[in-house]
Amino acid sequence: YGEMGQKIDYVFKVVLIGDSAVGKSQLLARFARNEFSLDSKATIGVEFQTKTLQIDNRTVKAQIWDTAGQERYRAVTSAYYRGAVGAMLVYDMTKRQSFDHMARWLEELRSHADKNIVIMLIGNKSDLGTLRAVPTEDAKEFAERESLFFMETSALEATNVEKAFMTGLEEIY
Ligand code: GTP
Ligand code: MG
Repeated sequence: YGEMGQKIDYVFKVVLIGDSAVGKSQLLARFARNEFSLDSKATIGVEFQTKTLQIDNRTVKAQIWDTAGQERYRAVTSAYYRGAVGAMLVYDMTKRQSFDHMARWLEELRSHADKNIVIMLIGNKSDLGTLRAVPTEDAKEFAERESLFFMETSALEATNVEKAFMTGLEEIY
């Protein structure tokens, strides 16, 4: 049962991964609490938040896990991925390197997670469009090649954040 006493039909574990500072924690803060902070601190270890929502008249509890992008702060990876049914692979559209690293994150994900995991590629910080370093087409192409869902978001402006999480969760369901 959830906080409001409602019956939970499903619990879906979703993991966030990607380089440090791409905005994983702020995407989660925006989705779970509709909050955003510009002076967000780097995550150390693992944190998670839950959000209970309705999909198709069922009550789904999304349990979203967030870990450090920085190697030295990361927790043991196999425990992090265990039981995950969804993953958000996040890059910063103003940092080419964070996109170039997506292949590596995907490799780590695929080697630890269930093979049926639903994966969403997220290009975050669309509010900084004038500084864009990753063309939408490049990301789309990568997503198609790797069979990922793809969306560009802004945690700051709350653009597509709800949509990205909901699309992923509906796909899992
Ligand atoms: P690690 O915990 O180190 O892995 O980083 P992270 O991916 O969790 O990044 P975090 O969410 O802490 O955000 C890093 C910085 O980017 C912070 O200063 C955020 O305020 C900023 N940020 C996050 N999302 C956005 C966004 O959509 N737009 C802009 N302009 N800044 C953002
Ligand atoms: Mg973080």
